[in-house]
Amino acid sequence: MTAFALDGVYPPQEDSQLLIDVLAGGAPLKGRSVVDLGTGSGVVAVAAAQLGARSVTAFDICPTAVRCARGNALAAGVEVHVRLGSWSQALECEPFDVVVCNPPYVPSGAEVDTGSIPPWAGPMTAWDGGEDGRLVLDPLCATVPQMLSDDGALLLVQSEFSDIGKSVTLLREAGLETKIAAVQSIPFGPVLSAHARELEASGRLTAGRRHELLAVIRAEKR
Ligand SMILES: C[S@@+](CC[C@H](N)C(=O)[O-])C[C@H]1O[C@@H](n2cnc3c(N)ncnc32)[C@H](O)[C@@H]1O
Repeated sequence: MTAFALDGVYPPQEDSQLLIDVLAGGAPLKGRSVVDLGTGSGVVAVAAAQLGARSVTAFDICPTAVRCARGNALAAGVEVHVRLGSWSQALECEPFDVVVCNPPYVPSGAEVDTGSIPPWAGPMTAWDGGEDGRLVLDPLCATVPQMLSDDGALLLVQSEFSDIGKSVTLLREAGLETKIAAVQSIPFGPVLSAHARELEASGRLTAGRRHELLAVIRAEKR
């Protein structure tokens, strides 16, 4: 990954890179329109532009992220239309050929000691996916077909702790052909370390285990 200015936004991590790897290894982006939902530093959007996408649009609810992504696109010499707003505003745009998303997906309850999470891990809104981690995942999986062009595809990265199987089921129910495009096991970073006790208590994490499985789901409209 290129060095990116971060300014208090989510620093590109393994999930960002896994999503980029799948994007780079798939069908060529030349001539395709891309939207990045929850762009943060803009790292995935910039990669899409560098991979030859015809146009790249990006949304984020965080004004700092919007400023940061705009700056990083400028520094990389690519055009990305970064817009302040919820991912759901993409539903009001012309359909996109490719939707990419690394949403907040960490299940986060009241018992978590967020004070132990260092500032460099980014703001809570970047990773907090609500009680089951599916605050963005559920509505996104249900509505994404409306954002896609006729042969469009979604690339979505998430953790095992926010129920990868549920995303696959919802995307299939929404009419998309869905497969797991990549998986990676990574050690817990500071955010999941702070959540470990709660994940253990809820039965989602075996006692003492400190690895998480990430997956990129590819869902196509055919
Ligand atoms: C996990 S970070 C991913 C950042 C970047 N795409 C990457 O892969 O490194 C999630 C981003 O989604 C943004 N976000 C959270 N809720 C959102 C929403 N409802 N609509 C749009 N963006 C949202 C956060 O501000 C954060 O920048």
